[in-house]
Amino acid sequence: MSSERTPPGVSAAVPNVARMYDYYLGGKDNFEVDRHAAEKVLAIIPEVRGDARNSRAFLQRAVRHLRQSGVDQFLDIGSGLPTAGHVHEVIDGAKIVYVDNDPVVLTHSRALLGHSSGVTVQEGDLREPEKVMARAAEVLDFERPVALLVVSLMHFVTDEEDPAGIIRRYRDLLPTGGYLVLTHVAPDTMPQKADKVSSVYQNASSPFTPRRRDVFEGFLEGFELLEPGVVNTREWRPDATTDRSLVKGDYHLCAVGAKRS
Ligand SMILES: C[S@@+](CC[C@H](N)C(=O)[O-])C[C@H]1O[C@@H](n2cnc3c(N)ncnc32)[C@H](O)[C@@H]1O
Repeated sequence: MSSERTPPGVSAAVPNVARMYDYYLGGKDNFEVDRHAAEKVLAIIPEVRGDARNSRAFLQRAVRHLRQSGVDQFLDIGSGLPTAGHVHEVIDGAKIVYVDNDPVVLTHSRALLGHSSGVTVQEGDLREPEKVMARAAEVLDFERPVALLVVSLMHFVTDEEDPAGIIRRYRDLLPTGGYLVLTHVAPDTMPQKADKVSSVYQNASSPFTPRRRDVFEGFLEGFELLEPGVVNTREWRPDATTDRSLVKGDYHLCAVGAKRS
């Protein structure tokens, strides 16, 4: 942030995962401490910027696809700083609830999006599914399909916090006909480097736990996967609009699952 002044409740002493991600994406909503940690990650994996862009591009393709399929309610948990191409910028005519637990994200999101039609910003923690869904239900109609977006977030949930159980609780709460859009960084995609990256995030606002493909597939149990199933973000239905972002770096696995019953 240009002034480097921190709003109340915000620490500029601890690298913050939302602001580090903003830095990877070329945003300006980050502090020196975030840039320093992000540069350490970039020294290990220079393609992280490309990976973040690919993940964003996947999110946009998935959301566009679901909107074209008739879904008009989106719940984006861990929505992040509104750096580039937020959900409401890529689709029309939908209700969108952005949820994040980071005060900087919430302040910026409210300032930038507060007046966008159909957009609501809510404070919430992914690890509290019942609370998050109850609040979202104040805005969204849970009698109709809702697309739940959990993009580039699950690797900030530790094993002790039971990531599979968290996703299962969301699946149970999601209306039939709803969708889950999920991504996760996988260590298989960055051999020998995952541990080094994790050690940088040890000092950040959330630790980083990349997970193997089979674990990611387990998270999707109970969902019917849309084609092409579990793939790297660049491989999920690439299209003419987003192919321009095919840059090096692809560490996220992704999938879109439908809740059929
Ligand atoms: C890497 S960013 C991803 C942003 C966005 N989903 C995207 O793909 O571009 C992760 C976001 O998740 C948020 N986050 C981390 N842990 C969270 C939690 N337990 N509950 C809600 N949001 C969380 C962070 O504040 C950050 O905004």
